[in-house]
Amino acid sequence: MNTLLGVVAMKPTCRILLCNRCYAATPRFVPSKSGCAAHSLIGRFDVEQRGRQFHACSSRIMHLHPAIGGTGFNIRLLPSRSDFDRPRLYGASGGFDCRGIWSTVVASSAVRIYSTAVETRVNDKNFERIYVQGGVNVSPLQVERFEKDESHIAARETEKDSSVEVKEDNLDLTEAKDRSGSLREVKAVKIKEGDSDIEKEGWKLLEKAVVMYCGSPVGTMAANDPADKQPLNYDQVFIRDFVPSALAFLVKGESEIVKNFLLHTLQLQSWEKTVDCYSPGQGLMPASFKVRTVPLDENKTEEVLDPDFGESAIGRVAPVDSGLWWIILLRAYGKITGDYALQERVDVQTGIKLILNLCLTDGFDMFPSLLVTDGSCMIDRRMGIHGHPLEIQALFYSALRCAREMISVDDGSKNLVRAIGNRLSALSFHIREYYWVDMKKINEIYRYKTEEYLLDATNKFNIYPEQIPPWLMEWMPENGGYLIGNLQPAHMDFRFFMLGNLWSVVSSLGTPKQNESILNLIEAKWDDLIGHMPLKICYPALEFEEWRIITGSDPKNTPWSYHNGGSWPTLLWQFTLACIKMGRPDLAQKAVADAEKRLSTDRWPEYYDTRNGKFIGKQSRLFQTWTIAGFLTSKMLVKNPEMASFLFWEEDYELLETCVCALNKTGRKKCSRIMAKSQILV
Ligand code: GLC
Repeated sequence: MNTLLGVVAMKPTCRILLCNRCYAATPRFVPSKSGCAAHSLIGRFDVEQRGRQFHACSSRIMHLHPAIGGTGFNIRLLPSRSDFDRPRLYGASGGFDCRGIWSTVVASSAVRIYSTAVETRVNDKNFERIYVQGGVNVSPLQVERFEKDESHIAARETEKDSSVEVKEDNLDLTEAKDRSGSLREVKAVKIKEGDSDIEKEGWKLLEKAVVMYCGSPVGTMAANDPADKQPLNYDQVFIRDFVPSALAFLVKGESEIVKNFLLHTLQLQSWEKTVDCYSPGQGLMPASFKVRTVPLDENKTEEVLDPDFGESAIGRVAPVDSGLWWIILLRAYGKITGDYALQERVDVQTGIKLILNLCLTDGFDMFPSLLVTDGSCMIDRRMGIHGHPLEIQALFYSALRCAREMISVDDGSKNLVRAIGNRLSALSFHIREYYWVDMKKINEIYRYKTEEYLLDATNKFNIYPEQIPPWLMEWMPENGGYLIGNLQPAHMDFRFFMLGNLWSVVSSLGTPKQNESILNLIEAKWDDLIGHMPLKICYPALEFEEWRIITGSDPKNTPWSYHNGGSWPTLLWQFTLACIKMGRPDLAQKAVADAEKRLSTDRWPEYYDTRNGKFIGKQSRLFQTWTIAGFLTSKMLVKNPEMASFLFWEEDYELLETCVCALNKTGRKKCSRIMAKSQILV
């Protein structure tokens, strides 16, 4: 239960200080980790340790996430890269203090005067400007506080201590307000007495993996194996890993942890992040975060949130998928709980826009798909998936669809909303047309002419037929097909990537016919893609020279292990969702039943190895949370298929009609979409 405590008006200031124990809010120099000469000057309340800045939750410390009066836009003060002598002030939208008080700052502020005229100009498309210059029209800070139910916190603490019981009493019908203000019933799933022991064990483990921050649950750690003496970063809350946990909790009727997660990660979005003096784009969400306890004076300690934007991650991979998952989860939270107020908040709206601005910024790429580096998603190591990997495109497409539903349309956002629509339409055309392969398409590629010039080329990407891998000619079933892993000039990556294909079905990135064919293919190739343990992350594995060249001889990604053809039980929930959507729950039930036979006995491994997923992975973690959560979510969805409809999308016919390209109008050139032979194969 959240109670609005009050609204406090404060004088505008760039020294935002609302704390009992006063941290100096004075801007100060923080040397970068590499100790290089360039210093960034920050003026937020942070705790420094090892040269890093953290988000601290010491009592009453609040982080400024100011908004410009009236417009509600957030401002952050960023110097230009060379402008290090000005104060740099990052803000966040609020936070729980140690007593469980959620504090939000929504304000206009005089801090604007420090702005160095930074504004978001995404390709001159006139998207909403997130940064503001000048210092006029300053209005006071407004602080809202929401008191959380302290008895709940205490209950949860006790619960954790006394080896968690499955709570049945809070699984009743919940009433929630929907967007139009009417009350509707959101049905939380009742854990039935008849649930299997394995499910009960799963719930206990999931509850034990919950990470608390200042007395509130904020996420689940990636793995929680007490016997693991070297957890590396598996004791952190990963954004992507938390999604199945969040869904399990939401479907069960426990929404607090998800709301906290969404709001805390939103704060981290605006965090200081630098890799060797370079700052990645604004709007980036971290790959993961950790709650650290740092010492203070007088034997006191304090909890702080320490995000990793890839600057500590192995290989320094960019977490491109995090922001996309965050948007997807935000929408799911609204759909399942009916609490749409969260997504309507100014800071949340700004968070969505920052992520989108980052994704929609023009670069050098020629395609509507998102251009990323290797390892920027679930496969977070070198695996030859740089460029335009399907997984990112499917998540991007879903996130755009979610955002289109959630963004409040006004004068400031209308261009962004239009850009989202255009991108959705172009992206779905691109993927449906150029990523799709089935027997017919393979045969077409097999007979391609090459070196075609001009717009009406059939072989637009100049694919040499010799690229078709021999295994594919044998493997492709008559009645199935799939979306390939990646497409670049003169390069089709024909590997089958499970997450990208499943998520294309779920989000309707594929046409209805393609979606059906993807499931047909999985059914036809059950032994290869499901085998002893669902589901193969990608098929087939890179072997021999290919493994050496493409993975860089990665000993963790040896053939049929880990990302390189390993089997990942977490993918079960996405498979279940896709099956329910396509009216094939039988397939999901079969896979879930197979998984149930082994998961608990094998201690919930992260992944399995070998062609058929027969062995627990070589370096697999045990008690991997998203394995547990994926299984629980799948079970609940199978039992309550009506819940699944909150999580998938049907075909959007409006998008099919949009073609914004001006080519036809000029008559000078023809639009390739209209010329495309197969058009959109509904
Ligand atoms: C591994 C996986 C990644 C996951 C992380 C935490 O790095 O590749 O997808 O998020 O572990 O479980």
